[in-house]
Amino acid sequence: MPQPDKPSVGLIGLGNLGTAIANLVTTNCCAVIGWEYDAAVVDEINSQHTNQRFLPGISLDHSLRATTDVSQVFGGTEIVFLAIPARFIRPTVQAVVDAGLVSPDTVIVNMAKGIDAETGLTAFQTTEMLFPANPCVMLSGPSIASEFAHGMPTIVVLAGSRDADLMRVSRVLDTRHFRTRFSHDTVGVELGGLLKNIYAIGLGLFDGQGITSLNFRAVYLTIALEEMTRLGVAMGAEAKTFAYLAGMGDLLATSLSGQSHNRHLGELLSQGRDLAAIQQEMGVLPEGYGTLRIALNLAEKLYVSLPLARGLWDVINGRIDADRFIFSFIRDFVED
Ligand SMILES: NC(=O)c1ccc[n+]([C@@H]2O[C@H](COP(=O)([O-])OP(=O)(O)OC[C@H]3O[C@@H](n4cnc5c(N)ncnc54)[C@H](O)[C@@H]3O)[C@@H](O)[C@H]2O)c1
Repeated sequence: MPQPDKPSVGLIGLGNLGTAIANLVTTNCCAVIGWEYDAAVVDEINSQHTNQRFLPGISLDHSLRATTDVSQVFGGTEIVFLAIPARFIRPTVQAVVDAGLVSPDTVIVNMAKGIDAETGLTAFQTTEMLFPANPCVMLSGPSIASEFAHGMPTIVVLAGSRDADLMRVSRVLDTRHFRTRFSHDTVGVELGGLLKNIYAIGLGLFDGQGITSLNFRAVYLTIALEEMTRLGVAMGAEAKTFAYLAGMGDLLATSLSGQSHNRHLGELLSQGRDLAAIQQEMGVLPEGYGTLRIALNLAEKLYVSLPLARGLWDVINGRIDADRFIFSFIRDFVED
């Protein structure tokens, strides 16, 4: 039940992750007002207290209120969570920012793990650019929404420059089964969550081809983590961030999850489907695809070699078949 001394919380995007976080916060402590793009979802949450489209099978707390009016989310809330894909953040919140409706005390917590292809900015960079006067926090780590929505044990990472901001956010999230850890490495924490999507596509692709041996998966995930770390460090992240929850933890959870959109993209590709048909079926392409293209460009500029990611790009784009790629990859594999 919400308690009167607890902060009021807003949320942008009552999709799968947003609804799970909103429900966690309402059952934990505080009333939540959440904006959602799909008006039918807003009606269902307000009238039935369910969200069958994005989080089926979960009864939502009555102190979660949904709206299609973004300005309601920013009026007087102490914390606002952003839970929409990176490319939608700017178009969704720009008008309320321009209208001066955002209090500088509001902590803005970005949960998106992607890059806006139009601007080339990551979701957290977009957040910091849109809210320059606000404390901004990045939430990442292994956090499959439908798992923690069912009370399964979960630990996520909150990254930001000031512990006081991280503590304000952890206060509304921490429960018996959901815990937060703090980091000051915002670059590393965000990159871990972004880059693992690339390698989740790859694991889906190889699994879809029946290449499911644990020996191969162990090689694959070891190299994936090493490449994520190498590119991350070249971009200013701390290497140790990748060895823990925001790197290895998220890579394992997403790559091995049957619910990951990125992994599913790989499975569909392995059936020989082309990207246009997949995009039509999935609605939008999962973020890992765009991230892969941008990561390869960045790696080239920074003189970082990413043979696994490069090979995945060639497989995805039909330049080489998965089997041939795996065998040349194993043949040429060197442990530095
Ligand atoms: N689902 C998870 O378990 C999970 C975990 C960690 C991080 N994330 C990240 O959270 C973000 C959201 O993922 P999700 O799985 O909740 O996605 P989702 O597909 O369940 O929800 C997408 C959200 O975007 C909104 N949306 C769709 N079109 C829009 C538009 N044109 N303008 C504005 N909003 C629009 C939808 O209404 C919905 O609220 C992603 O960046 C994802 O990487 C998800």
